[in-house]
Amino acid sequence: MPRSLSFAETQALIRDDLAGVDALIRTRLASDVLLINQIGEHIIGGGGKRLRPQLHLLAARALGYEGRDHLQLAAIIEFIHTSTLLHDDVVDESDLRRGRKTANALWGNAASVLVGDFLYSRSFQLMVELDRMSVMQVLANTTNAIAEGEVLQLLHINNPDTDEAAYLHVIERKTAVLFAAATRLGAVLSNQDERYGQALYDYGLNLGYAFQIADDVLDYTADAATMGKNIGDDLAEGKATLPLIHALAHADDTQRHRLREIIEQGDTTALPEVMAAIQNAGSIEYSRRRAHDYANAAEAALRPAPENAWTAALRGLARYAVDREF
Ligand code: IPE
Ligand code: IPE
Ligand code: MG
Ligand code: MG
Repeated sequence: MPRSLSFAETQALIRDDLAGVDALIRTRLASDVLLINQIGEHIIGGGGKRLRPQLHLLAARALGYEGRDHLQLAAIIEFIHTSTLLHDDVVDESDLRRGRKTANALWGNAASVLVGDFLYSRSFQLMVELDRMSVMQVLANTTNAIAEGEVLQLLHINNPDTDEAAYLHVIERKTAVLFAAATRLGAVLSNQDERYGQALYDYGLNLGYAFQIADDVLDYTADAATMGKNIGDDLAEGKATLPLIHALAHADDTQRHRLREIIEQGDTTALPEVMAAIQNAGSIEYSRRRAHDYANAAEAALRPAPENAWTAALRGLARYAVDREF
């Protein structure tokens, strides 16, 4: 069995790199427009798992990269992620993020969208500084795909006919492509053989699917204090995620009729009813199995990569993505 590191061991392995990324995030967030600093500090200071930056740092190190550009790229990736969160919380009308009130709850939708745009365009300024067309190509395509994913998801809101294939299509774009870019860019920086680039891309993409499915399970099973965001948000919004899609496909006629109605109306008060249907159909177990399948595929994709502490950490993060509680 190849070795894999725990989350804590991984943090220790890349402690200096992570500190470097955090310092960059803080200095490069700055603007002379006060509101940008306030909102930026609020969302960045709220923490976050910094999972995508970690993935990038590990991928670069795993392939022997020894320069400094991986720190800047990790910060860029976190800026892109954070800008999507600012926009996502407006779209989802969420009021809790990273254990704090969301920016939209505190400052309103307009400010959140505009500061999201600031972070997003700042990430492109930082990218241009790196002066590598291959990096810009990956990130331009990735950010475009994320936007498509969020729009595609919007088209499925309140649609009870959303099936597993449609769901997977949405999560690939809204979430998995950024994970894939984070790891793929590790290979790009280290100028390694394309074989490694493809392996790390496949690892990141599968991990991204696993991560989003786990997130959608947690939206039904976690508690807000641990998760740092409210649960039941997906249902409230009329968003059919994997647990509900599975329950709907396995419901009897009466129950199916009722679940369809709930999705169409995005009915928050129906959460206990939906939970019962999900329990009956074994939909949480099913979704967790699917998440594990993707995590296993992520680990398998790493096989061509060299065996070292950083690949062991990448394998550990594949486990963490699906076993985490927040
Ligand atoms: C939240 O991502 C958005 C999803 C893709 C589910 P994270 O769970 O990585 O958010 P933070 O950065 O740790 O807050
Ligand atoms: C997040 O999807 C995807 C992006 C931010 C692009 P969710 O809507 O499930 O994320 P949370 O649950 O709000 O973090
Ligand atoms: Mg959301
Ligand atoms: Mg969610």
